[in-house]
Amino acid sequence: MQVHEAIEKRRSIRKFADDPVSRDEIMKLLEAARLAPSAMNAQPWRFKIVDGREDIQWLSGSPTRGQKWVAGAGAVLICCADITRFLEDARAAVRFLRDSAVLPPEMQAGVEDYVEKAQNAPTEVLRGAVGMNCSIALTHIMLRATEMDLGTCWIGMYDEEALRQRFNLPQQAAVMALLAVGRPAESPEPRPRKAMEEIILD
Ligand SMILES: Cc1cc2nc3c(=O)[nH]c(=O)nc-3n(C[C@H](O)[C@H](O)[C@H](O)COP(=O)(O)O)c2cc1C
Repeated sequence: MQVHEAIEKRRSIRKFADDPVSRDEIMKLLEAARLAPSAMNAQPWRFKIVDGREDIQWLSGSPTRGQKWVAGAGAVLICCADITRFLEDARAAVRFLRDSAVLPPEMQAGVEDYVEKAQNAPTEVLRGAVGMNCSIALTHIMLRATEMDLGTCWIGMYDEEALRQRFNLPQQAAVMALLAVGRPAESPEPRPRKAMEEIILD
């Protein structure tokens, strides 16, 4: 399958067949995430694999604000971001760039400025920064899943504290999104999209 075919074929799937998603398939999806680009190559994403029936059932209640359809998923990936490591890795990347003098001075100053600002940024701003990186990793997963005839649906509504307690997520792991994965049992029509003229700025 060509990339453009996966982009065109992907839909949010909320109805799944009973067959489980194997660990091997999940590892292929996570490999697609692992290869995603990230700011300063910091790769802040961390994934919790939820594939136990009881845990998935639990997720379909109040932890996802009552999204009952989640119960049918073969697995749910909890995408977290380690903000502390993101800052450390970004600092290390800046030091490496400085020591190896690969960047022209103006660009080096630019990345140092970016990382310096990040060190002092409020947590909410940092959540946005790492969230952007995680979105790319999750998009890789969704497209790879499409190629593997798996269906996915992004879950943006969740109770972070409830997830942290249930799955023993580390305190520094901010939950960025959940992704339901399974074998599609529906073929939804494409959802409407804005016309090209609406998304190109004059
Ligand atoms: C950031 C984000 C949050 C989303 N949250 C949810 C959600 O909580 N529950 C849900 O059923 N779908 C959720 N979706 C899926 C969107 O509703 C879906 O992508 C959109 O309607 C377009 O449909 P398509 O994915 O089939 O093209 C979310 C998607 C994104 C990107």
